[in-house]
Amino acid sequence: MERLEDMSAAASATAQDKQKEIDFFGGMDAYDVFTPESNARLIFAFQRLTGLPRGAQVADLGCGSGAFTELLRQAGYDARGLDLSPKLIAAGRQKYPGLDLIEGDVERLPFPSGSLDGVLLSGIVHHLPDPRRCAEEVFRVLRPGGKFMAFDPNRMNPFMWLYRDRSSPFYSPVGVTENERPILAQRVAGAFRAAGLVAGTDYLAGLSYRHVASRWARPILPIYNAIDRLIFNLPFMNPLRPFVLTYGAKP
Ligand SMILES: C[S@@+](CC[C@H](N)C(=O)[O-])C[C@H]1O[C@@H](n2cnc3c(N)ncnc32)[C@H](O)[C@@H]1O
Repeated sequence: MERLEDMSAAASATAQDKQKEIDFFGGMDAYDVFTPESNARLIFAFQRLTGLPRGAQVADLGCGSGAFTELLRQAGYDARGLDLSPKLIAAGRQKYPGLDLIEGDVERLPFPSGSLDGVLLSGIVHHLPDPRRCAEEVFRVLRPGGKFMAFDPNRMNPFMWLYRDRSSPFYSPVGVTENERPILAQRVAGAFRAAGLVAGTDYLAGLSYRHVASRWARPILPIYNAIDRLIFNLPFMNPLRPFVLTYGAKP
């Protein structure tokens, strides 16, 4: 009996609190935190790491109000977006009429098995305390040979750790949900491999934020953006860059 209680406590500790996500993003009119140049860098990374051709059927998971779904469409993909937040999906539909945006949960995808050529996990994996269920869903919905890429903040980057990791004395909970934390690249790649996918890791610097939620961090933002561009782009800084790209394929 005691063991069963322990097991259910452990399971709930690793489950995402969906309502907290919905409430948090329900307070926003839209989500588009990077500069346009940074958004373009992420789409270019997706093209480079997946090699998917124009016309490929791609889902943008955790699409928010559709900023990356629209860029995928502009890059020539047959793109659709999915997000847990009804508010952000409604905002995206208003901003991009005609773009295919739906409400849904990345841990229970409403797409048929083997129906997609590609998946962009759009800043969503770090919102999942345990990424295994999401990885299994990505495996299920991809066709054999289908490709995926995820981008998430890197716990090994000093800024991401200082500002966004709960073990840091300077952790700020402002502007983030309780579910999220920067990721460890090997843990996430391991979850995708365990789901049956071939997975690798790359890193990205030079993604400039347009703004940050925390008032004390705001004056530091231009310094962060400059250091990120000048220091973390150096080749030997690779594993310390602010963003982890987890990418791969369904065999
Ligand atoms: C950091 S935001 C990224 C938004 C957008 N992709 C971007 O980068 O501009 C994370 C998004 O993931 C969504 N999300 C969180 N958990 C989710 C889940 N289980 N299923 C689908 N979407 C989820 C949130 O609603 C939010 O829009």
